[in-house]
Amino acid sequence: MPPISEILLDRVAIRRRVEELGVQISRELAGSNLCVMPVLDGGMIFAADLVREIHLPLAITPIKASSYGEATISSGTLSLPFGIPEGISGKDLLLVDDILDTGLTLNVLKDRLMESRAVSVRTCVLLRKESSRHLPADYLGFDIPDRFVVGYGLDHAGLYRNLPDIGVFSTAVDDKLQQ
Ligand code: IMP
Ligand code: MG
Repeated sequence: MPPISEILLDRVAIRRRVEELGVQISRELAGSNLCVMPVLDGGMIFAADLVREIHLPLAITPIKASSYGEATISSGTLSLPFGIPEGISGKDLLLVDDILDTGLTLNVLKDRLMESRAVSVRTCVLLRKESSRHLPADYLGFDIPDRFVVGYGLDHAGLYRNLPDIGVFSTAVDDKLQQ
């Protein structure tokens, strides 16, 4: 049994919202030189579903970023173990990530990608935590409470990304975070 105390978003709700985002993105980014950048590892499941709802010509160039290690609190630094991919100059980039927490990941990536001569960099995140409501995303799936969640790409220590629903991770670790 995965350590889930409560399902926050089930697969049906997720699918419906991903379809809506696909419609919106297809309308708003028509005519751009679109390159979708899944942020690995967390953004890969969301991005895989999302690109199939975007009915435009597009390239897919993943980028690997990591800020967490094995903890449930951000380490405050971002590493790009494979650097910035080649061939993004002249592209309209759409970063696709699982969750906006401190905003570090997408802020750093945006800056680095603009330095690499992208024409534009937009962000699409599936989830945004309560404490991050002030942080903007061009496309947003859901606002959620400040809980540590897993499933649909989101992990704890590398596990549970494959769960089809998104649930609150329940262990003593998460209980401590709530105090
Ligand atoms: P940020 O850089 O602090 O905005 O954090 C973004 C990254 O932290 C995401 O791409 C996730 O990998 C990870 N993260 C933040 N909150 C959670 C969570 O509740 N569950 C799993 N991963 C999380
Ligand atoms: Mg992660």
